[in-house]
Amino acid sequence: MTDFETILLDRKGRVGLITLNRPKALNALNSQLMREVVAAVEELDADREIGAIVITGSEKAFAAGADIKEMAPKTYSEAYGEDFFSDWDKISSARTPIIAAVSGYALGGGCELAMLCDFIIASDTAKFGQPEIKLGVIPGIGGSQRLTRAVGKAKAMDMCLTGRNMDVEEAERAGLVSRIVPVAELLDVALETATTIASMSLPATIMAKEAVNRAFETTLAEGVKFERRVFHSTFATADQKEGMAAFIEKRTPEFKHA
Ligand code: CAA
Repeated sequence: MTDFETILLDRKGRVGLITLNRPKALNALNSQLMREVVAAVEELDADREIGAIVITGSEKAFAAGADIKEMAPKTYSEAYGEDFFSDWDKISSARTPIIAAVSGYALGGGCELAMLCDFIIASDTAKFGQPEIKLGVIPGIGGSQRLTRAVGKAKAMDMCLTGRNMDVEEAERAGLVSRIVPVAELLDVALETATTIASMSLPATIMAKEAVNRAFETTLAEGVKFERRVFHSTFATADQKEGMAAFIEKRTPEFKHA
């Protein structure tokens, strides 16, 4: 297992837990942290013993955004030349389901990192925002696109143009967050949820994730056809035979993740 400085990486059974760990900077996303999160996700994603991943921060901050101090002196040619922030795209290509467990601030790149995950479980203290406009810039890790898909144009425009935060109730009503839990229970609920996902057939969870994500990329007719073809292919897996046999025999399935 790789050594990291700005994150903690843990394995809990079939669940990988990544904890952002720059408490003095409210988990601001500097380049080292970005490299480490991407490396940890890639390491867990390649591990067949891992069936779900949780990314979390601290109670005060999931992440307060990209690191403004590191970013401030950048020139246009540096930002363009290094394709600044493009490495974060690697998280959305992970096949293993990823849950963001968000407490406190999820601002700018922090909100965008949460949205790069497959769904967000948030504590009752969570706050979401895209305040880049207050810094004279705009979101750069997909915020203007994923937030709009998650909450619709009206709220996305409101947030990206005014930089205001959304509290967790508004975020849940708008569809950004799947569940709200008391802050003290956040990690337990996220890990339990991830453990449930990881107990399902791995090929089926990967296919389900791919099918839901396809809804954002294509038309309804094409998406439905894609889903049907992938559904057909589940009949080639040992886990389909086991899952259905277990139901008929009134027992718990023992998935082989194959
Ligand atoms: N980058 C760098 N450092 C940050 C940071 C960030 N995004 N957010 C907080 N910090 C640092 C602060 O500078 C401070 O460090 P010092 O003690 O060395 O001064 C420390 O974390 C604690 O922060 P505060 O004292 O500000 O804590 P607070 O409780 O008073 O306020 C906050 C919390 C409202 C989140 C405030 O820190 C804040 O507004 N942070 C910036 C939020 C922001 O603008 N995020 C967007 C960044 S741009 C971006 O993300 C671009 C993109 O799309 C990718």
